[in-house]
Amino acid sequence: MRMVDIIAKKRNGGELTKEEINFFIEGYTKGEIPDYQASALAMAIYFQKMNMRETIDLTLAMRDSGDVLKLDKIEGIIGDKHSTGGVGDKTSLVLIPLMGACGIKMAKMSGRGLGHTGGTIDKLESFPGFSTHLSEEAFISQINDIGIAINGQTGNLTPADKKLYALRDVTATVENMSLIAASIMCKKLAAGADIIVLDVKCGSGAFMKTKKDAVALAKTMVEIGKGAGKRVRAVVSDMDQPLGYAVGNILEVMEAVDTLKGEGPADLKRLVMVLGAQILLESGYVEDVKEAERMLKYNLESGQALKKFHELIASQGGDDSFCDDPSALLKNTESYEVKADSDGYVTGIVSDKIGLASMILGGGRATKESQINLSVGLVLKVKVADQVKKGDCIGVIYSCDHAKTLEAEKMIKEAIHIGQDSVRKRKLILDIID
Ligand code: URA
Repeated sequence: MRMVDIIAKKRNGGELTKEEINFFIEGYTKGEIPDYQASALAMAIYFQKMNMRETIDLTLAMRDSGDVLKLDKIEGIIGDKHSTGGVGDKTSLVLIPLMGACGIKMAKMSGRGLGHTGGTIDKLESFPGFSTHLSEEAFISQINDIGIAINGQTGNLTPADKKLYALRDVTATVENMSLIAASIMCKKLAAGADIIVLDVKCGSGAFMKTKKDAVALAKTMVEIGKGAGKRVRAVVSDMDQPLGYAVGNILEVMEAVDTLKGEGPADLKRLVMVLGAQILLESGYVEDVKEAERMLKYNLESGQALKKFHELIASQGGDDSFCDDPSALLKNTESYEVKADSDGYVTGIVSDKIGLASMILGGGRATKESQINLSVGLVLKVKVADQVKKGDCIGVIYSCDHAKTLEAEKMIKEAIHIGQDSVRKRKLILDIID
């Protein structure tokens, strides 16, 4: 088999066989196929697309390019959750302990992530001592002990995706449905859970800008998961305004803890309930959505979910005395109020601009090597459809550098559109694919 023939076949609109896809992924992982041929194939796929069978074969080849976690030493059903990423997305910090409190085992591996804020593991590292470097054995043993664990990536998981994603990033070939779906799903399949719930974000702060694309991505990923013998469901949720109010690492932990106390923003709470219900339904723990929501509500409002969060932080070596009030973790920040320039209604909040404001303050990474400041960020005071008066506080910036504060203030004002006509509240849950 020759790589040049595979490239030409796809360039001409042909369907690649399983053997051809395996040849490419194995050769590329070993360094036998050079980047220039891999990028030519990625571009051919970008234009000619892949059908579902090719997409599933690509996913499985990438899953098998490295270690696949064996979680059979964990008793019971194991769940996992993935979000395609959005601004203010702290859902995992609430959902994982909540599911643990409901009796579902959750084995979550998270990346650090580039972008507006750190990833889930950066946020958890706000707790002094918290380790995200558990060995595979410790990860499994903790899940058997307390039901949940959140870890950085262990071992050599999906090396083909690591190489190919980095290559796609610099060859303008990220935005292809099959390549995105395969890239996300190979990592989830290698992480070994039985049930996977996907939160596919849609809007200005997300990869997928339209509902049509987000639903198509969600359906593709569900089908891949089912093709690989997993139980997968997807929720398509709105990202045309940030989730909750807080954007920034410790600020998001604070909002997550409020939600674990049964308080917190309505949209975050709703999303957690919907995702949690999907896991409970798929696991067979409940008969219907109503029963699922009752169980989730009870565990939030009774403090069981917050108790599980304490256990998670303590088990991974963190100081859980901050769990009830993580605001004590904020260091050396000035707070600065952003005021509305006019009377009116909030007609839109451009999520990616809000994310950029957090990044400028130092809350997110531009490159893998960037250091992030866990204390900085912003807390919005408005949602789309709210009425405001000139001079009202529409957001609070937490910053260590006054020049950056002023830059962020400008971006926040540009991101929050205030108009004269009232608008409807945005719908949060756009679709559920099961
Ligand atoms: N996230 C991934 O992990 N891969 C993609 O291709 C896009 C988003």
